[in-house]
Amino acid sequence: MQKFQNVCMHSGTVPSLDRLYSEHVNPQWVRLLNVLDMNEHYERCAGSELFTVGGRRILDFLSGYCVHNAGHNHPAIVAALKDELDRSGPAMLQSHVPERAAELACELSRRACGSLQRVFFTSSGSEGVETAIKFSRAHTGRSGILYAAGGFHGLTCGALSLMSDPFWRQGFGPLLPGAKAVPFGSLGDLECELATRKHAAFIVEPVQSEAGIRVPESAYLRAAQELCRHYGTLLVLDEVQTGLYRTGRFLAAHSFGVEPDMVILAKALSGGLIPVGAVLMTEAVSDSVYRSLRRALVHTSTFGENGLAMRAGLATLDVLEREGLGDHATALGEELRRQLAEALAPFEMVKEVRGMGMLSGIEFAAPRGLKLRVAFEAFRKIHPAMFSQVLVMRLFRDHGILTQVCGNNFMVLKAAPPLVVTREQIGEFVGAVRAVVALAHESGAFWSEALGLARRAAKW
Ligand SMILES: Cc1ncc(COP(=O)(O)O)c(C=O)c1O
Repeated sequence: MQKFQNVCMHSGTVPSLDRLYSEHVNPQWVRLLNVLDMNEHYERCAGSELFTVGGRRILDFLSGYCVHNAGHNHPAIVAALKDELDRSGPAMLQSHVPERAAELACELSRRACGSLQRVFFTSSGSEGVETAIKFSRAHTGRSGILYAAGGFHGLTCGALSLMSDPFWRQGFGPLLPGAKAVPFGSLGDLECELATRKHAAFIVEPVQSEAGIRVPESAYLRAAQELCRHYGTLLVLDEVQTGLYRTGRFLAAHSFGVEPDMVILAKALSGGLIPVGAVLMTEAVSDSVYRSLRRALVHTSTFGENGLAMRAGLATLDVLEREGLGDHATALGEELRRQLAEALAPFEMVKEVRGMGMLSGIEFAAPRGLKLRVAFEAFRKIHPAMFSQVLVMRLFRDHGILTQVCGNNFMVLKAAPPLVVTREQIGEFVGAVRAVVALAHESGAFWSEALGLARRAAKW
């Protein structure tokens, strides 16, 4: 053991840490980063900027998939965590009333308004989805769960049961029986399923993020809520990406004027520093699980109310509110989409720029012209995500901008910077995207990149 520790402690150089990660964590992830030419090592991260060991400055337009709403390493959140550690308080006794959890639950309920006055704390978004499945079953006595096709809800077995894409499911079944997809935005299909009265919950993202930043018609969620109430099914909003001011208000539910029975939060709740999630729910739903003294601990999670996680949550809410980051996200998000739409208008492969708050997507389409079409189809044959992935690579390598393709829609490039992003950084992003999209339309160099990528993938 001592020998092994020495090996680990003394091999702190970047290549050797890559090797250790490959040997002991996930070799394919290191391979993939190398193939994509994105294997950077970061020394310092602040606000919307990442600084590499090699001296590059990268502008973050991914935010760890909507984790860093408050910006990387916000000084106030870091200070709160240091203070919490210095306090030497009860981090996790599992045998007292955790005061920080009481405070954070109160702050979340106050911001959620209405009837969402109880909170269950988790350590991840998937665990929040699992919680919603269990609580809605307990509350309704039904076992079925409805979800909207194309959504992303997490990769634990219950959450995975709510994702229709075979890519995520293959090899992991059997999953939950009774989970059923309906098309996002279709009230007719939803009502047909609700009318069976088999479903405990309809779990849906208010704006489908990984499905390609799909913003529903403004009346969809309100009508879905009415239907759910009518047929006795709970409406659960997965706001793991859309919540915490990402789409402008504290919850996207507030923007759409809905009052769900449960809301799942995670990702941005701790300023990107400590794992934490929260499921907000009505008293009635909570009481149907904790309905007697015997059942006081029937659903718990060891790290759920951890003192550091709770303190990070309190500090993060304070920062998001004090700095007016919701209003900032609304104003600058609109500005971003306006600038993108204008800059990308001349290009035939750009289908649409859309989004809400600081959650935006650029959708691409197959080109109509023969020359581009041949190259595009060749790309698509190598891998369906190849075209967008080369865009991502070029943005990263040539312009120092980190972004990604949507996980369930390879034709949409996602733009989700920290909410502290500045007007200048928005301008920098738009200029870089325009340059890379122009390259795709005007230069063979863009298209020969795919061949290089395919060759690297075969070699590694
Ligand atoms: C909308 C949504 N729900 C749930 C999850 C799962 O969260 P986690 O990865 O923290 O388990 C994700 C993760 O990306 C998500 O985007």
